[in-house]
Amino acid sequence: MKNGVETYTEQVQKLMANRTNGAPLAFVRTYGCQQNVADGEKIKGLLAQMGFDFTNSDQEADLILFNTCAVREHAEDRVFGNVGALKHLKRKKPGLVIAVCGCMTEQQQVAERLQKTFPFVDLVFGTHVIHRLPEMLYHVLSDSQHLMLLGHEERNIREDIPIRRDGKHRAWVTAMYGCDNFCSYCIVPYVRGREKSRNPDDVIHECEGLVERGYKEITLLGQNVNSYGKGLETPGDFPGLLQRLDSIKGDWRLRFMTSHPKDASRELFNVIAGSQHIPHHIHLPFQSGNDRILGEMNRKYSREQYLSLIRYARQVMPDVTFTSDVIVGFPGETYEEFRDTVSLIKEVKFVNLFTFIYSPRPGTQAASMPDPVSHEEKTHWFAELLKEQEEIAIKNCKQMLGSRQRVLVENRDKKTGLLSGRTPGSLIVLFPGDDSLVGNFAQVEVTETNGWSLKGKEVAF
Ligand code: SAH
Ligand code: SF4
Ligand code: F3S
Repeated sequence: MKNGVETYTEQVQKLMANRTNGAPLAFVRTYGCQQNVADGEKIKGLLAQMGFDFTNSDQEADLILFNTCAVREHAEDRVFGNVGALKHLKRKKPGLVIAVCGCMTEQQQVAERLQKTFPFVDLVFGTHVIHRLPEMLYHVLSDSQHLMLLGHEERNIREDIPIRRDGKHRAWVTAMYGCDNFCSYCIVPYVRGREKSRNPDDVIHECEGLVERGYKEITLLGQNVNSYGKGLETPGDFPGLLQRLDSIKGDWRLRFMTSHPKDASRELFNVIAGSQHIPHHIHLPFQSGNDRILGEMNRKYSREQYLSLIRYARQVMPDVTFTSDVIVGFPGETYEEFRDTVSLIKEVKFVNLFTFIYSPRPGTQAASMPDPVSHEEKTHWFAELLKEQEEIAIKNCKQMLGSRQRVLVENRDKKTGLLSGRTPGSLIVLFPGDDSLVGNFAQVEVTETNGWSLKGKEVAF
């Protein structure tokens, strides 16, 4: 209640109470990257404030919300399939509220297709209006309106949205929103808007609170964290932010994603090398190992510049490991150009690789480039790349035999019954141990490797 006027949050709470016995249940399903996961946690924070509890069953839910991703066609197709499947549920349960939000909805033609194909969807809203969820739900519930709210990019970042975190030990913290890079294949700048950095004090305050509450791993998020700080009143950059965060006392670790090679500086690697809390592991997407393709992708670095970053990082941190993202079959890529990508992965030896076949995204520059290679052919190249990477990953695991790894224990692996922990390089190690270790760090010696899975035993620190 504000000045005797009920807030939208309170009104939604009342309207839902009339519809359900006990707390209303929300089923929130998030697709896509960690940025979307972080948005999903804000959506859940707002829903919890409105009195919702959460369920993993769409059958028992009073509200179903899909937080969508638009990065590849396959991601969108899954959402269309899953939303379509709700038709029968809505018929059985007319009071059910169905909402679709996230990156897909920020493309006008997709939002319109959603509304047209699925008239039973009550609410469609974009990535910039999450904070208005109580108001939107109020209108849907009180006037049975079908609502669509997109765009509305705000100048200031909302710092007042509650967060209901999925994890108890690992947390996502947004450092910056949006992307200005316009890589020619990518939809993200269109659906997420321009780059905006959070005030460093807000980021630090959030992280301090998390460490105090016992969180053991924080991952800072941004589409290109290296451009953090642009446009802030008080000048600052990403290495500076990392340094300030690193001074937060406690037993915890700090990761970040994603780092764009064009802005990754030597200073960044120096800060990681000298830090207390940042593992010597960097996710540094290269996308292609061929200079012509990198140019067409608008990535703004060359193969050699990328490799020289890797060399520098290894010079200041001999134990550093890398992961990366790769696209196979960019429009016009030839087999020889694709082989440059393979030779780059052999040279760098990534511990893990996230590999994608190029997917045309309407409205992006690359979508209108000639793309003569068939999908089937690209699938062969893709398999070839995976095979090479598999060999690298297996060799890498073998080299870890006998090494001691400081792992953050995440849970108990269902299949083996062993504890599952993550190394600084983000690989999973399974080992026997007590439940009390979950959510804590343990020192594990790697005693067995099978393919790219690791097993070990706990040893004293
Ligand atoms: N901001 C991050 C990446 C975000 S998208 C960065 O620049 O590294 C995650 C990954 O999806 C990208 O790194 C890229 O490899 C892949 N990707 C993006 N658009 C794609 C498309 N149209 N087709 C296939 N893969 C794509
Ligand atoms: Fe997409 Fe490039 Fe921005 Fe990453 S940096 S989100 S790949 S446009
Ligand atoms: Fe997908 Fe949006 Fe992330 S398009 S990858 S959820 S920023």
